[in-house]
Parts: sequence; structure tokens; C-alpha cells
Amino acid sequence: MAENVRIRETTAEDMPTLRSLIEAFLPFVSNAPGDAVTITVEDLVRDGFGDKPCFTCLFLEVLEDGKPPQVAGYTLYYFAYSTWSGRVLFMEDIFVLPEHHRKGFGKFILKHLAKIALDNKCERLSWQGIKERDCTHFYNAVGAGCNSAWSNFKLDVQGMASLLEEP
Ligand SMILES: CC(C)(COP(=O)(O)OP(=O)(O)OC[C@H]1O[C@@H](n2cnc3c(N)ncnc32)[C@H](O)[C@@H]1OP(=O)(O)O)[C@@H](O)C(=O)NCCC(=O)NCCS
Repeated sequence: MAENVRIRETTAEDMPTLRSLIEAFLPFVSNAPGDAVTITVEDLVRDGFGDKPCFTCLFLEVLEDGKPPQVAGYTLYYFAYSTWSGRVLFMEDIFVLPEHHRKGFGKFILKHLAKIALDNKCERLSWQGIKERDCTHFYNAVGAGCNSAWSNFKLDVQGMASLLEEP
């Protein structure tokens, strides 16, 4: 990689920056308006750094002499569990700011996660991706496989409430 970069774990003080990055990430994965992101900085601080942390977030920073480190991307992950194979590192988000695309930063982040996954005895590094988008080229380039026979299902708050009301 031409530029000098580092990956570091975020702190609660980084959550306002993360909140902005999440909003910048949105158009790459959805046509929803910006207000579709309902998470607040307070939610992120509570859920990342409270009694029961739910995620770890890493920032990728560009280091230039005489300048403060500049955030160029992030990833957010947590550990899941497969009854077939055991521990799974699930990558919720990976995002590199557009002005830094194709510099090897995304691959650098993914390699970092692969090391964390292996160090934690995970059988899998897993994520959801949208087909027919540019990111598919990236996933192919890093050698990821896709199980297209499986679909994602969800119950939103209304769906869960309705289920509870059923006899
Ligand atoms: C997907 C993403 C993380 C890739 O990060 P990146 O830093 O640009 O990717 P890299 O430079 O590490 O690319 C590694 C290889 O992946 C492939 N690749 C990456 N982006 C590609 C693109 N748009 N078109 C074709 N190939 C691509 C190339 O083979 C590339 O190697 P090369 O540049 O030497 O040819 C970045 O484009 C991004 O943040 N996109 C918007 C958010 C997003 O789509 N996230 C995924 C959610 S589904």
C-alpha cells in the first residue's frame, strides 16, 4: 500500500465520528433516506462500551507527517455462534470513504479481521452483502464464497408485538 495507515480500536469518544460514517455508508447499501439511520451516539456508546458491549468498532486511519491521523474507513464486528462449527466473527459493516477506494484499504481491514477471527478460534468470518453492487467485486477479490440458497428473515418491532398477541 502506498499510504501509511493503521487500524485502531475505537473508544466512546469516537462514537460521534462513527455515527457520521454510518450515515455516509448508507447510500452504498440502501436507497433509504438519511433519517433511516435511527441509531444515536448515545446508543452506540451504551452498546459498545456499556455493561454488556455488543460490538467492537475499528477505525482505519491514514498517517501523514505533521498531521493528525485521518479516519478513512471503519469496520464494526461482533462474535456470533454456529451450532455446526462454533465461533463466528460477524462483520456488520465495512466502509472505506470513496476518496480512498482502490488503495488496498478494504483488503487491509479484512485481513485485520481475519487475524482477529483466527486468533479467537473462529471457524468463519462472515457478513451480508448486496449482490449486483461494486462490493461484490471486492468480495470476489478476497476469495469469499456466497451461500445464495439462504435468505435473511426478520421480525421488526411491530412483527414481534403481533406475534406475541397471537393465541
Ligand atoms: C467495498 C469496499 C470496502 C472495498 O474497499 P477498497 O479499499 O476500495 O478495496 P481494495 O482497494 O482493498 O480492493 C481490493 C480488491 O478488490 C477488488 N475491488 C474493490 N473494489 C472494486 C470495484 N469497485 N470494482 C472492481 N473491483 C474492485 C479489486 O480486485 C481490488 O484490487 P485492485 O485494486 O488491486 O484491483 C469499498 O469500496 C467501500 O467501502 N464501498 C462502499 C461500502 C460498501 O459497499 N461496503 C460493503 C457493504 S455490502
